[in-house]
Amino acid sequence: MTTRAMITGAGSGLGRATALALAERGCTLALIDIDATATNTVAAECGAPTTVIIQDLTAEAGPETAVERAIAALGGLDLVVNNAGYGAGEDFFAMRGATWDRTLDLNLKAVALICAAAGRHMRAQRSGRIVNVTSPASRMALPNYLAYAASKAGVDAVTRAAAVALAPYGVTVNAVAPGMMDTPMQRITEQQLAALEGRNDFEVFLAERTRRIPLGRRTDCETVARTVVWLALDAPDYITAERLNASGGLDKD
Ligand SMILES: NC(=O)c1ccc[n+]([C@@H]2O[C@H](COP(=O)([O-])OP(=O)(O)OC[C@H]3O[C@@H](n4cnc5c(N)ncnc54)[C@H](O)[C@@H]3O)[C@@H](O)[C@H]2O)c1
Repeated sequence: MTTRAMITGAGSGLGRATALALAERGCTLALIDIDATATNTVAAECGAPTTVIIQDLTAEAGPETAVERAIAALGGLDLVVNNAGYGAGEDFFAMRGATWDRTLDLNLKAVALICAAAGRHMRAQRSGRIVNVTSPASRMALPNYLAYAASKAGVDAVTRAAAVALAPYGVTVNAVAPGMMDTPMQRITEQQLAALEGRNDFEVFLAERTRRIPLGRRTDCETVARTVVWLALDAPDYITAERLNASGGLDKD
């Protein structure tokens, strides 16, 4: 039977690449995003059968509504990819509550609530897989990127807890920590971080950051999507509570 999958943040970057890769593998998809134009374009690229669900995951009951709408559209749910994310570079000494709220609402609270809502369905079905997108940042000391790093440390905690909660029902929960991919989010964040460090030589700044990656190069959304798809469709079902490092060695803990 075809795998029925929902992907959050499917309108751009890693979410788009994951949607395309899952479509190629014959999955039936619900693409969740806040950006209707971008997501409709991705749906057209994926081809049928793909449903677009426009939903703000930070709205009251947004995460639960997204899951309900996906189950209704797909006639069930076998796979969730919690990918939507937001990050902002901000001076440690000037950090604002608004940044924390926006970051944690999307990156952490929505992921936890989607795990619970999808988990209720998968528990009853006694099967399913959840893949959460975390970041190497979850284990790094990043004073000017703290809300983001803390949100991803939270995602790691959610992954572990959800994996244990759902294990008795044959449902696995794992995470992928992607390396640097050239997406709108990454580009804006690095511009903010460069400005915070008083750097006017943006390309040099980027090259320095790239040199810090042990493999010496950045990755791309398609490569990381292959990692997500492996965990989602191909990984042995004895793997759960895992955090898979796909960061070129940046994340070594
Ligand atoms: N780009 C990188 O280098 C990198 C590295 C490590 C981890 N990540 C993680 O990968 C994931 C994808 O990041 P990306 O770089 O592809 O980002 P992106 O900005 O390209 O895409 C994010 C998508 O999320 C959607 N979105 C934003 N707010 C939303 C909301 N409130 N409700 C629903 N959808 C919303 C956006 O419309 C967009 O389509 C994120 O979790 C990010 O933290 C990215």
